[in-house]
This record gives sequence, C-alpha cells and structure tokens, in this order.
Amino acid sequence: MTESTRYTLKEVAKQDGRNGNNTWIVIYDKVYDVTTYKNKHPGGEELLDEYAGQDATRGFDEFGHSSDARRVLKKFLIGELIEEEKISNRRKKDVTFQETTATNSRRRLLSVLCGKCIT
Ligand code: HEM
Repeated sequence: MTESTRYTLKEVAKQDGRNGNNTWIVIYDKVYDVTTYKNKHPGGEELLDEYAGQDATRGFDEFGHSSDARRVLKKFLIGELIEEEKISNRRKKDVTFQETTATNSRRRLLSVLCGKCIT
C-alpha cells in the first residue's frame, strides 16, 4: 500500500472555499480537493460549497452517484483522514455516547418507578 497524506477534520475545515481558501471535502474518510471541479459539478457548485471543509459522504451517497462520478472523484484525491477520525472510529465514539445516555435514562426511569413503589 502506498503512503497517503493524513489530515485531521480541523485541517479540512480550514479549506472551506471562503476567502480564497481551497475547497476540500471528505467522502468515506478520503480527502478531496475539488476547488477546480466545483463549477463543473453536474449537481451544481452550491452543493459542493455547502459541504466545503466538511464530510459530504451522506450527500454523495444519497444521490447515488454513478461509477463515472467515482472515477472523477479519484482525480481530486489528496489524502485521507487520520485513523482516529475515520467514520468507523467516529461512530464508535457516538455509540459510547448513546449508550451512556440510554443507561442514564434507564436509571432515571427506574428511580421514578422505585419512588412510586415506596410511596
Ligand atoms: C466531489 C465529489 C463529487 C463528484 C465528483 C460528483 C460528481 C457528479 C457527477 C459526475 C454527476 C453526474 C451524474 C453521475 O454521474 O452520477 C453528479 C450529479 C449530481 N451530484 Fe454530484 N458529485 C460530487 C459530490 C456531490 C455531493 C456532495 C452532492 C450532494 C450533497 C452531490 C449531488 C449531486 C446531484 C444532486 C446530482 C444530480 C444533478 C442532476 O442530475 O441534475 N454531488 N455529481
């Protein structure tokens, strides 16, 4: 496997297409510099501007782009996210968060029910 440049989401966020910055977007953990492609995008420049500096995986997927679009994408690849910030690792963090919230609300519910038993 060839070495690929790693970026953090913070670094990507700086390339938001504003004030002369480039336009970078993340799709499936890969970082793309679409500055020169933006105005050629069949879906419009605005959509890419909307996701400038951010993760556009969901938007890209929801439209269901063709394999042609995927080929275009390859031309603008500049690197990938650091391991800790890849989607699967971000999800892991989210799951932990969701589990904690769920456990807490179960505890709250139990304490309310128990309170009712006692009174
Ligand atoms: C840089 C990444 C992207 C590339 C290279 C790309 C490429 C393309 C290409 C080649 C098409 C023509 C249809 C096809 O071949 O599937 C297309 C259409 C379209 N794209 Fe993208 N796209 C990108 C990102 C996005 C994102 C992030 C969104 C939405 C948030 C989006 C929304 C659309 C829509 C709505 C169309 C349909 C336009 C129409 O048929 O009127 N695209 N894109």
